[in-house]
Amino acid sequence: MKILGIETSCDETAISIIETDSLNKISVLSNEINSQIDIHKEYGGVFPTLAKREHAKNIIPVFESSLQKAGLYKKQENTKQYEISEEHKLEIQKIFEREPELKETFIEYFQSIEKPDIDLIAVTSGPGLEPALWVGINFARALSLIWNINLIPVNHMEGHILSIMTQNKEPDFPAISLLISGGHTELILIKNFGEYEILGQTLDDAIGEAFDKTARLLGYDYPGGPEISKLAEIAREKNTKLEEIKLPRPMMHSDNYDFSFSGIKTAVLYLVQKLELEKSQVLESDVATSKPVLRNLSEEGLDQNQKEQIALEFENAVTEVIIKKTKKALSEYNSHNLIVAGGVIANKHIQAELKKIENINLFIPENNVTTDNAVMIAITGFYKSKNSSQTLEFFPEIIADGNLKLG
Ligand code: KG4
Ligand code: ZN
Repeated sequence: MKILGIETSCDETAISIIETDSLNKISVLSNEINSQIDIHKEYGGVFPTLAKREHAKNIIPVFESSLQKAGLYKKQENTKQYEISEEHKLEIQKIFEREPELKETFIEYFQSIEKPDIDLIAVTSGPGLEPALWVGINFARALSLIWNINLIPVNHMEGHILSIMTQNKEPDFPAISLLISGGHTELILIKNFGEYEILGQTLDDAIGEAFDKTARLLGYDYPGGPEISKLAEIAREKNTKLEEIKLPRPMMHSDNYDFSFSGIKTAVLYLVQKLELEKSQVLESDVATSKPVLRNLSEEGLDQNQKEQIALEFENAVTEVIIKKTKKALSEYNSHNLIVAGGVIANKHIQAELKKIENINLFIPENNVTTDNAVMIAITGFYKSKNSSQTLEFFPEIIADGNLKLG
């Protein structure tokens, strides 16, 4: 069967089509992602109403290119084979009450293309930014209505877990999952796909958020995680270490599976302030010895070496914490299967440290499905459709739940 996945929970408008009849045999026909990062950069994070507007503007073009890549796009010829009925038109006007962009364009566009060969629609219903989630949900509801295709809501975090299935290799259960993204840091016990128990989570900032905030303190744009990762790699290769650059490992030894990353960010802030102050004092003493000082003190920031060293220490600190807690969970629940997913898994050092854990099968998503995407939503929708006790008819009542929990 062919499944259409729709994802709009944050700043990526993603639409994908997969073909599968079994979780162990998934073909990705298309995986289209439109990222809004450049638009949100100047706000230093994702701005929900702006995200919503961008999703509404981009969802039809992303849908079209996803259909084209999957070879399912066909413009209607002369005959209006799939003309939308007056009743459905009224319904669609109601569905898009809060998405004026789609209210105007949806009907015209979908009367111009043929109904593709799709058997199920899966859409993210949470967690995420509610205004953004609604765009995907309403788009999915309208499609389900005009094409009479079943629709199923998907938890975004469950999607990240099931993203490993593009490799067509299933873990044994119980498995442990470490989810690390810009919005989440969670350790989860998976008794089976669909049966989750959250063992612990961050009490404040998510790990990706801590990467991004640290990057900001070092002068890099949102999302700065990849930048920190590059700097740390350079420092690691140089194999030098500045003793004065030391950061805490919050909750590393706490007797639970929770995390806390906001203190580490504050520690970076104090460290940056201290190093900058020391530098300006050095410059002042240059003045004292009446050597000419050409640089303006107020523009004096950290030098590249200091930035690299902070990035290294930061990356080491957060990695040590997550590895320690993950090992503890694997051992306590006697599991040999570890699934790690979410955008931060792109981090090479974290991957390298995970690979050092002995005696486990490590599952990490392939590169094209690590960050937010709709392939993982389609896979999860497929899995739920096969294993749900609910009958899977039309789900018009799907609502966006910004805090939707797993399990
Ligand atoms: O899962 P994701 O794409 O979006 C959320 O659902 O949050 O994760 C995005 C996060 C951002 O915080 C970004 O800085 C971080 O993943 N990230 C990285 C790396 N690549 C992306 N963090 C550290 N190292 C990386 N290489
Ligand atoms: Zn995500």
